[in-house]
Amino acid sequence: MKDKIDSDLNRKFIRLIEQKTGLRIREQSQDDLQSAILTRRKALKLQSPQAYYQLLAAPTSDSASEWQKLIPSLTNLESHFFRDQGQFQLLRDKIFPELIQRNRGHKTLRICSAGCSTGEEPYSLAITLRELIRDWENWDITILGVDINPMALEKAKAGVYGQWSFRRVEPYIQRHYFQTSGDKFHLSPLIRDLVRFRQVNLYRDSFPTETSPLQAMDLIVCRNVFIYFDPKVVAQILNKFYQVLKPEGYLLTGHAELSGLDLSQFKAQVFPESLIYQRPMQSSSAAVTAKIIPQPVYTPAFTPTPIPPPQQPPQPVAKKVSSPLSKPKTAKKQDVKTLLIAAETAYGQKNYDEAIHQLQTLLKDDSRNFSAHHLLAQIYANVGQYAEAKQCCQEALTIQEFAIAPYYILAKIAEEEDDLEQAKQLYKRIIYLDQNSFTAYLELSHIYHLQGDQTRREKMKASAIKLLQRSPKEQKIPELNNITVAEVLEEMAI
Ligand SMILES: C[S@@+](CC[C@H](N)C(=O)[O-])C[C@H]1O[C@@H](n2cnc3c(N)ncnc32)[C@H](O)[C@@H]1O
Repeated sequence: MKDKIDSDLNRKFIRLIEQKTGLRIREQSQDDLQSAILTRRKALKLQSPQAYYQLLAAPTSDSASEWQKLIPSLTNLESHFFRDQGQFQLLRDKIFPELIQRNRGHKTLRICSAGCSTGEEPYSLAITLRELIRDWENWDITILGVDINPMALEKAKAGVYGQWSFRRVEPYIQRHYFQTSGDKFHLSPLIRDLVRFRQVNLYRDSFPTETSPLQAMDLIVCRNVFIYFDPKVVAQILNKFYQVLKPEGYLLTGHAELSGLDLSQFKAQVFPESLIYQRPMQSSSAAVTAKIIPQPVYTPAFTPTPIPPPQQPPQPVAKKVSSPLSKPKTAKKQDVKTLLIAAETAYGQKNYDEAIHQLQTLLKDDSRNFSAHHLLAQIYANVGQYAEAKQCCQEALTIQEFAIAPYYILAKIAEEEDDLEQAKQLYKRIIYLDQNSFTAYLELSHIYHLQGDQTRREKMKASAIKLLQRSPKEQKIPELNNITVAEVLEEMAI
């Protein structure tokens, strides 16, 4: 049958796509990939999927133009305006004012949204800056949106959006910066003209080069892009970003997107809203190395805030009489341990499909394994499968009713889903369970700030600081890239 894609050919397609784009095709996306391949084969009237593979693999201009047609079906364009309010707040309140102050002499600013999709992110950056800089016309401001997907860039340039793109946006933004036409919202030229778009393949294209627009950036925002790449690909892109940033320039990624990478060449700055990375003033001559480092299992989903390890399940009282069944039981326990280690390793390498596979196998033997349910929840949360993540958290909580880690994941999902009241309840529950949880106080402080309740915000912040001050100053917090307690306190004093 000419449309059959056997597993060998399927693997070749997946490898080729990764080589050309950096994108890793996950198991759950393989059906979509196959149907995209078959659609393109038919459109081109090629004899077989193998012939289509040969076309894509050939170093020809036909191949290059075919990639332009295939790429849109490989990329996830999910985006909306002011996605992640906390990070935008951090930009508005701290990072942009600092950059404006720093650059006030020459009045230039260079910002890049890398993996900008259909433009919501760079336009949100433009609106934020426009509201901060009063004498806009005296400044030379570059806001650059880059993406691999040519169709996304066309949509971005048009600046026309449906209501869905505004799902978490204050209504005044829509009123002020958009004109309604039917069910569409047209971005005002005032903002649209501030952003330039370019097609860039972050993985394969070289930058900075003389001709690349990606150079001398004050800030690179690259969010919800690295989750689609292998850590080695992320490391390569980070090396390039490092070179593209000006000394003291900032890199903002999605929460926890860089976990498992050694980013020691960057300076990590921790704020209640988010971690942000900075190229230090004094760069070392060596290129940044982003080595993969082993991650602890109990890192939180989404945010780089520390989570205490879950409580140990109550130890069953050992039976005195050994039964003939005890041996196989021990062997099973050993398998469970091995599977959990394999899952943790795969998770550390961001090989989520493999980690899920190991955990599901483990749960067939040991369906009440808290760690497996918790790690599954974390993986699902990291890749945005919130319904599955919540389900796994609930499972974990039926096993360890008083564990804290699943509540953190549930709280972060509630925040992502804009259910701040639910998030607050969950953080309060964490504090009820563990009064020393300074991260829960920090998160609550952040939510109160978003809600304009400054009194409660200060109260929560003060509690967090009090708890941090009781911890050893040199204690490293692995979930915060090994920043010490002292450093966190220093950042909070700003
Ligand atoms: C989920 S969207 C993120 C959009 C936006 N940054 C946000 O957070 O709302 C991911 C984007 O990364 C882009 N992308 C994927 N691989 C890329 C590559 N190798 N180079 C540039 N962009 C890439 C996709 O085309 C897609 O638009």
